[in-house]
Amino acid sequence: MMRWFRRHKKYSFEWKHDRHSHILPDLDDGVKTLSEAVELVKRMTALGVERFTFTPHIAFPGMLNNKDNIGGSLLILKKYLESEGLRVPMEAAAEYRMGEFMLDLLDRDDILASSSGEVLVEHSFYAPTCYTDDILCRLRDKGYQPVLAHPERYPFYLDDVVKHCEEMKHKGCKIQVNILSFTGYYGKEVLHAVQKLYDAGIVDYYASDIHGLKQMDLLEDFMKGEFFNS
Ligand SMILES: [Fe+2]
Repeated sequence: MMRWFRRHKKYSFEWKHDRHSHILPDLDDGVKTLSEAVELVKRMTALGVERFTFTPHIAFPGMLNNKDNIGGSLLILKKYLESEGLRVPMEAAAEYRMGEFMLDLLDRDDILASSSGEVLVEHSFYAPTCYTDDILCRLRDKGYQPVLAHPERYPFYLDDVVKHCEEMKHKGCKIQVNILSFTGYYGKEVLHAVQKLYDAGIVDYYASDIHGLKQMDLLEDFMKGEFFNS
């Protein structure tokens, strides 16, 4: 019998600033409680993360968060961590699921960006909205830097994920992939897609996109085994 042993691939990338997570409690499909949020921040800090930009979903009609409830949640988490003596730079932005509603938010200047002006956007997992180009164009016009979340996860990108990302880059988007994609957590196709993006050198940011403690266990396993936080 012949056996194949594939050499474990080692990855190297920077992950000091986590730019995509669902740690702020009870706002979306992510973390539900303050204590879980606190534990995640502590465990990610132990892995080398020095700074957080939390990105709760803003999607229509489901998870229509806004500056007020997101800002309020950030304040509570920050105060709690400080009371425990943990002072980590943290801010809140959002992850926008692109759709027509975003044009209204743009009209009203009601966009939640990171302090450096970046706006995390994602496609619906069914199909990209026909408003994509319009949204990207208007974000750029207003001086924002759009960042596309986890392109390796969109089924409609898998025919040629590198080509799709190059197109998005031409439209002024940066590219963010999920670290968990390297673990096979989202399936084999996503793993292959993220490896292609890594090999093509097209990735701007690596982030956790973490939603809860189960994913944290996987993230820690991956970090210990295959990863070098450069
Ligand atoms: Fe996300």
